[in-house]
Amino acid sequence: LHVVVLAGGISHERDVSLRSGRRVTDALQRAGMRVELIDPDAGLLGHLADSRPDVVWPVLHGASGEDGALYSLLRAIRLPYVGAKPGGARLAWDKGAAKVMAKRAGLRSPESIVLPNTVFRELGASSVIDAIGAGLTLPAVVKPLEGGSAQGVSFVETLDDFRGALVTALTYFDTALIERKIEGTEVMVGVVDRGEGPFAIPAVEVVPNGGVFDYGARYNAGETTYYAPARLDEDVATKVAAMARSAYETIGLRDLARVDMIVDDAGEPWFIEADPIPGLTETSIVPLGIEAAGLDLTAVYADLVRAAATRGHV
Ligand code: DAL
Repeated sequence: LHVVVLAGGISHERDVSLRSGRRVTDALQRAGMRVELIDPDAGLLGHLADSRPDVVWPVLHGASGEDGALYSLLRAIRLPYVGAKPGGARLAWDKGAAKVMAKRAGLRSPESIVLPNTVFRELGASSVIDAIGAGLTLPAVVKPLEGGSAQGVSFVETLDDFRGALVTALTYFDTALIERKIEGTEVMVGVVDRGEGPFAIPAVEVVPNGGVFDYGARYNAGETTYYAPARLDEDVATKVAAMARSAYETIGLRDLARVDMIVDDAGEPWFIEADPIPGLTETSIVPLGIEAAGLDLTAVYADLVRAAATRGHV
């Protein structure tokens, strides 16, 4: 099979994407596929139209790949790809919309407020912060409504901390999401479909050395301890896997995704977000979970490509 892996792009997560893309490329080459790694530019569609690969795998983290727009283009030029349908990716990419869908499916997700920059500017920081204080129990997490790799995310203990946190989040995206912080264990679960239906791989528990799973803790080896599988009781692990599957299906993800949760001290999982193109770098969660399941990463990636080729351009 001839595969084009897309990595890089123009988002804040460009570097991570290049790292993920190289890993995927190496794996597919090991599986005997003919693989081109392309950092997309204005010539992308022309190149794809001329070379007609069997499958495109966009490993483009951030808005350039995860908001669904590129998937729509690939469908328009009738090329099979690894990834969600455009609408599913779009829903996951908007963390507020993803939470609404998850709650509608009966999944627990922390209370939150969506704050557009226009409202922040019109009402002024003080009124906005007063309203947040009246509506939400602290501590809270402030993040860009759309974005990945924990960029622009802050933890807020008191109302005084909000101003800086909101400004930071709003430099990454024009709308912020403010969410009640759930205390507990941070777990992330990959959901994989090798062509025979989606299944949850073992949850991975993240324990950052510095206490916060920020950009540095995600991508510098040794800054986080990962437990794969997570140290959960069996009944809790079952609930976590069920939540991952349910979120994947409700949001409309496909092929490979990651669902992030917090398990509270009572053993109940809370849906935080779903990632349509999860990190696949050497320090990323999904590859760890695949290996913890006793599966061969190369074989899984190759199966994802074969399944996309069989499915065709839908
Ligand atoms: N959005 C990045 C790649 C991740 O969280 O895995």
